[in-house]
Amino acid sequence: MDDTRLYLPILLGTVRQGRETEKVARLLLDRVGRHPEIRTELFDPREMVLPMDDEGQSLKFENPAWRNAVMQADGLILVSPEYNHGYPGSLKRALDVLLTEYVHRAVGLVGVSAGGFGGARALEKLVGVVRELGLMVTFTDLNVSNVGSLFDEAGALTDPSFDKRLDRFLTELVWVARTLRWGRQNLPSAYDQRLSKLQAEWDAHMARRPG
Ligand SMILES: Cc1cc2nc3c(=O)[nH]c(=O)nc-3n(C[C@H](O)[C@H](O)[C@H](O)COP(=O)(O)O)c2cc1C
Repeated sequence: MDDTRLYLPILLGTVRQGRETEKVARLLLDRVGRHPEIRTELFDPREMVLPMDDEGQSLKFENPAWRNAVMQADGLILVSPEYNHGYPGSLKRALDVLLTEYVHRAVGLVGVSAGGFGGARALEKLVGVVRELGLMVTFTDLNVSNVGSLFDEAGALTDPSFDKRLDRFLTELVWVARTLRWGRQNLPSAYDQRLSKLQAEWDAHMARRPG
């Protein structure tokens, strides 16, 4: 088995003031960060350059940290609240900054809601989006229901099943991410040439960039 840790960055899926989903993303940052096979880091769309008068890959060069993270990633963990049975536009806008960079990487979906469905309806809709990006989605989502009472007053987790469910989520994500890492390293793909071209364009753009 490959003995180097997998890199699985976490993307928080909302910019809302008072967002409860941030608490889940930070809990995951802590838990996943302590997993022996994974290194991770948290990305927040509030800290990305996502102006309201542009969309898509033209914003890639304004978001080098996210671009470089995705290029190095073995997979992603998307943490999305449910807004009107969908995922927030801010999550989609952050994802849309890149395209081929995502191809043949794993993705695990975490849904968060105030109600009892753990963001399940948002995650179902997100599956079609990540598929279009070339990400390979696992079938073991992590659903966080009743997020307002996830922690008690002392800051302890109130859901005794959380860690077991997280473990199931991560076990599958690690398997898929490791399998895809092997595939990227050992099997030629129709996307290799496109990725090399994107890398060359990136390097040329960065070399031209003033100081
Ligand atoms: C615009 C909006 C729409 C929402 N729609 C739903 C919904 O369809 N289903 C649901 O369970 N909760 C819904 N909620 C409540 C969120 O699940 C709740 O705010 C939860 O804390 C997670 O979102 P947050 O990170 O923004 O706090 C909605 C919240 C907002 C702001």
